Amino acid sequence: MDNTPSFLPGRFNGKIVIVTGAESGIGRATATRFALEGATIYGLGLREELGNEWIRSLAGHSETAHFLKCDVTNSASVASTIESIGKKNGRIDVLVNNAGKFLFGDITETSEEDWDQILATNLKSIFLTSKFAIPYMKKIGGAIINIASVHAFATMEKVPAYAASKGAVVALSRQMAIDFIKDRIRVNSVVVGGVDTDMSRLHALSTGRTLDDLGYVLEDNVLGRAAKPEEIAAAITFLASSDASFVVGTPLLVDGGLTADL
Ligand SMILES: NC(=O)c1ccc[n+]([C@@H]2O[C@H](COP(=O)([O-])OP(=O)(O)OC[C@H]3O[C@@H](n4cnc5c(N)ncnc54)[C@H](O)[C@@H]3O)[C@@H](O)[C@H]2O)c1
Repeated sequence: MDNTPSFLPGRFNGKIVIVTGAESGIGRATATRFALEGATIYGLGLREELGNEWIRSLAGHSETAHFLKCDVTNSASVASTIESIGKKNGRIDVLVNNAGKFLFGDITETSEEDWDQILATNLKSIFLTSKFAIPYMKKIGGAIINIASVHAFATMEKVPAYAASKGAVVALSRQMAIDFIKDRIRVNSVVVGGVDTDMSRLHALSTGRTLDDLGYVLEDNVLGRAAKPEEIAAAITFLASSDASFVVGTPLLVDGGLTADL
């Protein structure tokens, strides 16, 4: 089976798109796809050097791509960044809440500080970015895509903060969908399975296993492999596009069959 999604040039012409955690993994693949399909893209993240390297990698599309340093857990940082994008462009069409952090350890092994940090990065960040972006989306309608995880529905040992945060992302997305559909803002979440990124490699390392031994292979995953970030970007950009005009409040499973396989 071919697992290289094909681009749709021009699909997002004229659209103003924000992707958080854009400097690596799924966020970078998603921000890249938006850029190559015509959007003016704002990638937000913590690591400036990596973000600038992402801009350079876009070659012919770098003029409409921007990387802005923004800590999505910090309300002042989020407010000033999103306000500047909104004011400059007069609108925001798409917000992808992708920034995330992983933590390994059961509750007794998890410090209160680490718990708060995971919940702030994976959950509160969505509250903050949406709070400041929605006023700029209301005028024109738009799409918000929040990145959840299969840990929202089924889990493995020692990921309490992460699993709790991702379960809440699905619930919050459904709530936001109900609250803002009147403004023609479609909100959905993407329930992501195992993807080959820094985060899943850290997870594998924490458990003393390799990425391929993390439970994503043959016996647990009908596709028998971890996804490429581009395969998740394809689902995210679908939800942002007019092809998903009737898709609202859904947790879209993109997990290679992981949660279907008993
Ligand atoms: N990789 C997987 O198997 C997998 C599975 C399910 C869900 N996800 C989710 O996908 C999303 C992207 O993860 P990834 O796998 O690409 O990993 P990643 O570590 O490459 O990406 C996470 C990004 O978020 C950024 N970030 C972290 N804290 C931030 C903060 N406070 N402010 C701004 N940016 C911040 C990081 O710098 C990084 O670029 C996450 O929400 C993750 O939970 C990943």
